[in-house]
Amino acid sequence: MAKVLISYFSKSGHTKKMAEYIKEGLDSLGDVDVDFKKVQDTTMKDLRSADGIIIGSPTYFGVMATEVKHLMDKSIQCYGKLVGKVGGAFTSSGMIGGGNETTIMSILQGLLIHGMIVQGVHNGNHYGPVSVGAPDKEVRDECVQYGKMIGELVKKLG
Ligand SMILES: Cc1cc2nc3c(=O)[nH]c(=O)nc-3n(C[C@H](O)[C@H](O)[C@H](O)COP(=O)(O)O)c2cc1C
Repeated sequence: MAKVLISYFSKSGHTKKMAEYIKEGLDSLGDVDVDFKKVQDTTMKDLRSADGIIIGSPTYFGVMATEVKHLMDKSIQCYGKLVGKVGGAFTSSGMIGGGNETTIMSILQGLLIHGMIVQGVHNGNHYGPVSVGAPDKEVRDECVQYGKMIGELVKKLG
C-alpha cells in the first residue's frame, strides 16, 4: 500500500490541527497508509520509506520554524533517495500577509532540491494549505482536499 508521511511542527496547535485534517483526507481514500509524526520524531527511515512527504510548519519570520529546518538539513543523509517521491507543504501564520506563502515555498524548495514532485492547487491556496490563526471550516475543507489530492497523485505514480 502507498504510504504518505505527514511531518509537522506546532507549538500552539494550529499546524497540528491542519496536519490532522490532511490525514483525514488521506484516510478517506481507504488505501493509503499514513505515517503521522512531529518533525522532532521524524527519522531518515520515515523519509525514505514514504512514497509522499507532506511537511507542515508555523510561519516563523516568513520561513519554516527552526525545528522543521533541522529536519530538512538532516535529510541530506537521504540525498538521492527521495527522487520522484511526491512532496507537499502547509503552514499556519498569524497574519494574512505574514509570510505564509514564503514559508510554504521555503519547504517546497527543499523538497524540489531532493528531486521530489510537487502538486500545485488550482482551486485553493495555490502552493499548499494556509491557515491564518486557528483553522476554521474553510481551512479544514482545504486540508482534507489537499490530503486526498496528494494521496491520489502518490497512487497514480505508484
Ligand atoms: C517565533 C515566532 C515567529 C512568528 N513569525 C510570524 C511571522 O513572521 N508571520 C506571521 O504571520 N506569524 C508569525 N508568527 C505567528 C505564528 O505563525 C502563528 O501563531 C501560528 O498559527 C502558530 O502555529 P502553531 O499553533 O502550529 O504553533 C510567529 C510566531 C512565533 C512564535
